[in-house]
Amino acid sequence: MSQEQWTAVDRYLTDLFVPSDPILEAALRSSQEAGLPPHNVSPNQGKLLQLLAQIHQARTILEIGTLGGYSTIWLARALPAGGRLVTLEANPRHAEVARANIARAGFSELVDLRLGPAVETLPQLAAEGLGPFDLIFIDADKPSNPHYLAWALTLARRGSLIIGDNVVRDGTVIDSASTDPSVQGIRRFNDLLAADARVSVTAIQTVGSKGYDGFALALVTGEL
Ligand code: SAH
Ligand code: DHB
Ligand code: MG
Repeated sequence: MSQEQWTAVDRYLTDLFVPSDPILEAALRSSQEAGLPPHNVSPNQGKLLQLLAQIHQARTILEIGTLGGYSTIWLARALPAGGRLVTLEANPRHAEVARANIARAGFSELVDLRLGPAVETLPQLAAEGLGPFDLIFIDADKPSNPHYLAWALTLARRGSLIIGDNVVRDGTVIDSASTDPSVQGIRRFNDLLAADARVSVTAIQTVGSKGYDGFALALVTGEL
């Protein structure tokens, strides 16, 4: 099995199930043209996020890590009229590209993009009494994942769904001795989820156009 094959199969699946969409394509193109890193979820992963939000009937969504707003647009499309999506981004250049993409998608009203390090904007959300959020997507700097999980739980309720991207990272996650802060951040995040009796969790490995990685899914089943 090779990256070439994973990419070809992703193309097959995406051609079938995720029809080309001018707004999402424009978001990817403008992100690329602005030199943003290609760290957006793939189209079929974006559709998975949208489906999960729809299955969950989410009305309020928190995203940590906006980049160019690609996953933001997928998630925003799952929301009913009157829904809200707050997305957090530390990099002003990324935020600028995202704002334009979100506007082009018609979601400027629905999406509240907060510029700044999430360690600063998360407490602000809590102070403003925002939340609880029905769905929280954690996809920013991986070393901070343990911190983001704590805030996600603070901003959640019983029934909230927490999704973590990039929990496998080419399989490096199993190296307990890794000196990579991202690997350690993901491992600690996974350990915290495993030890928390208030959440029901699984994680799955994925392969595709973005390589070999994985998602974690945690449903808050206990009282917070
Ligand atoms: N969710 C996006 C991809 C996010 S990539 C998508 O799928 O389309 C990760 C993003 O997190 C980058 O834009 C990066 O600038 C941002 N980020 C990194 N550190 C951050 C921090 N401390 N606070 C908020 N955002 C951060
Ligand atoms: C990276 C970050 C991501 O969120 C992602 O989905 C892929 C790669 C990265 O920082 O390398
Ligand atoms: Mg990611």
